Amino acid sequence: MKKTVWTMALLLIGSSVVWAASDGVQSLRGDAALAAASAPTSDKTWYDGDGKIVRQYAQQPPLIPHAIEDFSIDRDGNACLSCHNWNSEMPGATKVAVSHFLNRKNQALANISPRRYFCTQCHVPQKNAPPLIANIFKSLGD
Ligand code: HEC
Ligand code: HEC
Repeated sequence: MKKTVWTMALLLIGSSVVWAASDGVQSLRGDAALAAASAPTSDKTWYDGDGKIVRQYAQQPPLIPHAIEDFSIDRDGNACLSCHNWNSEMPGATKVAVSHFLNRKNQALANISPRRYFCTQCHVPQKNAPPLIANIFKSLGD
């Protein structure tokens, strides 16, 4: 029994050495040395191609179909709410969902739940960007 455990441990160590030494392994930042600067990311411009990019599944936070650079969210205020809060009079701005007023015990609050205060935690401006990682299930099927 002891012997088996030792053999397995050695095999494990051995295989990780081989793994570390194998060439061509790249992370998302490419094969740049750790100290080197990675390539600059593309600018985060939003995409208004064909209007709204529709939701892909029922619980998806809808993408933001407009630029947001000018709207700050900090402890002093949330600019998004000036148009999206239930009592805002901005025409055409979808009101925040009722779910945004619930605390984690599902009790309704009078104001936006702190869990939903930082909108961009979940909602991001829409962009027609290539995926960082290809869909492996799709490519396996190809
Ligand atoms: C000046 C008013 C205004 C502000 C400020 C604003 N929005 Fe909007 N927002 C709109 C309008 C109008 C629409 C609808 C546009 C459309 O349907 O094409 C919209 C659409 C959206 C949608 C899509 C809703 C849906 O039903 O698909 C989201 C999500 C959204 N905004 C999030 C935000 C977030 C997050 C912020 C803050 C960073 C923000 N908005 C700030 C006016 C505003
Ligand atoms: C923790 C994630 C999260 C945060 C934070 C959040 N949302 Fe949402 N939002 C969602 C999800 C998920 C949905 C879609 C499901 C739903 O309606 O609850 C949604 C839906 C919406 C909708 C569409 C409502 C409708 O009736 O179609 C708007 C508008 C919106 N959110 C605006 C905001 C704004 C403005 C903020 C910041 C004050 C915000 N959200 C913060 C996750 C979030």
